[in-house]
Amino acid sequence: MVQNYLLDTPEGIIAIDTGYPGGADKFIRRFVKKAPLSRLKYIFLTHHHDDHSGFLNDLLAVTDAKVILHPLAVQYLKAGKSNEPPGSGYSSWPASLFSKVKKDFSFPPVQLGDRGVVIESEAAQFFEDLGLPVRILFLPGHTDDSIGLFLTETGQLFCGDAAMNAVISVARHTIWIEDAEAFGRSWDKMLALNPKKIYPSHGTPFSPKDLVKYRHYMDGRTLIHP
Ligand SMILES: [Fe+2]
Repeated sequence: MVQNYLLDTPEGIIAIDTGYPGGADKFIRRFVKKAPLSRLKYIFLTHHHDDHSGFLNDLLAVTDAKVILHPLAVQYLKAGKSNEPPGSGYSSWPASLFSKVKKDFSFPPVQLGDRGVVIESEAAQFFEDLGLPVRILFLPGHTDDSIGLFLTETGQLFCGDAAMNAVISVARHTIWIEDAEAFGRSWDKMLALNPKKIYPSHGTPFSPKDLVKYRHYMDGRTLIHP
């Protein structure tokens, strides 16, 4: 359901997100085929949703990795439930079918303590300060705590759920959106970087040309509240 990306860097491995609760064993089994678990130094949390932070506690228990996250994610992680602010909803009729099969969006609450590295703004470029060509982007719209990573040397952009390329999504739009206007502005922001490829958390990588093609899909449409 969720793509796990690992960035192998001289400062250790950066994992982008975790997955649904219960997925830790499989993640660790696959990770140790590539590298010892001790090399996992950072977990970059694109946002708090249950399918991204579901086994964060499990990874924190078996590594000394730090969690890089948006300030707003801290409170959502403590609550252990995907946020559902007024005005949010599904971006299309096919996407709204998801609410028929999934009702529970909770996950084990996470208390980060000193394991969290809160990125207050894009002025705080944690990875670039370490000398890595990895830029943190604020990409609100899907959620207000959505962030992504842009690899400045290769043009690869890891957008989390700021776009989606799965069977259930329409026009590269993520099935759940909190704020459609902010979502569109985040697409403009990604395009302005002239990325080579977009790597979403759901579905396969796709060309940034798709962001141009589908940029205005939500114009004149309204989000479908469950
Ligand atoms: Fe999400």
